Amino acid sequence: MKNIVRFGTSIDEKLLIQFDEIINRKGYVNRSEAIRDLIRDMLVAEETADPDTEAMGTLTLVFSHEVREIADRLNDIQHQHFDNIISTVHVHLDEHNCLEVLILRGKSKTVRSIADRLLSIKNVRHGKLTITSPGGHLT
Ligand code: NI
Repeated sequence: MKNIVRFGTSIDEKLLIQFDEIINRKGYVNRSEAIRDLIRDMLVAEETADPDTEAMGTLTLVFSHEVREIADRLNDIQHQHFDNIISTVHVHLDEHNCLEVLILRGKSKTVRSIADRLLSIKNVRHGKLTITSPGGHLT
């Protein structure tokens, strides 16, 4: 059974009001859950900063499919890393633009390096990597 600990904390009133406004807007039912999420976020950031730790990544890319070399280049790089790219979703945004979301798994340094290679392709218009932990140890 989990051991739940209660703790008190001192905080500037203005800061607490701002915190409460944000967590209410986000839909948290109480401060405890919001604080637990902040702590988990710090733990994941700390853990995935270690280049050799196992990590999961979601990479979003927006590009024009009309520049033929981009689609080819994206495809080449994804095939080179087939063992780290678990899944890819491709959405045709409009007549010109595509959105791809890739799910990556591997050492944190490998996930980051694949994302960097894809993001740095010329004419990839926007993109972002979110890196997280496989989560087994998060309570
Ligand atoms: Ni498309």
